Amino acid sequence: MTSELVLRPATPDEIPALLALWARAAKGTSITDDAAGVAALLARDPQCLIVAAPADDPGRPIGTVIAGWDGWRCHLYRLAVDPDRRRRGVGAALLAAAEERFIALGGRRIDAMVLDDNELGHRTWKAAGYRPEARWSRWVKPLTA
Ligand SMILES: CC(C)(COP(=O)(O)OP(=O)(O)OC[C@H]1O[C@@H](n2cnc3c(N)ncnc32)[C@H](O)[C@@H]1OP(=O)(O)O)[C@@H](O)C(=O)NCCC(=O)NCCS
Repeated sequence: MTSELVLRPATPDEIPALLALWARAAKGTSITDDAAGVAALLARDPQCLIVAAPADDPGRPIGTVIAGWDGWRCHLYRLAVDPDRRRRGVGAALLAAAEERFIALGGRRIDAMVLDDNELGHRTWKAAGYRPEARWSRWVKPLTA
């Protein structure tokens, strides 16, 4: 399967298709899962949203990962693969592409936020070499205009 896969940066014209993919494939929702949120991401860093697509239909996203680099840390978000395309190496290929990007940018370590009850996600992260750091928890403050 992975040999028939194209990995490429997302384009602004496919934002609706990416939101639809996340609605059926991603785990949970994110505060930035809307057209304005994704457009702002692509404007800030046009290379960071990596899309997997079939080689014979490269315009159709079947998997994504956001490989965010802020100059200090490497963060992964929105790793998701279409349910009917899973377990064929797409997720692993997306993580490998993200890792390649981070290394090229000079990153030193990758972070991912993973829900504690996402067993499927845990298996995928572990297979790719990630380990949890249980002493940390996430602290947040939503911003209002
Ligand atoms: C997690 C997810 C992205 C994995 O995508 P995928 O394309 O199916 O993953 P891969 O086929 O590349 O699997 C890579 C490895 O992860 C592990 N793995 C993945 N899915 C697994 C499953 N259902 N059962 C056991 N191991 C699994 C395996 O070790 C696998 O390697 P193998 O097939 O050679 O044994 C996909 O299941 C998904 O979109 N899940 C919902 C969203 C999600 O939870 N994202 C992570 C958020 S933190």
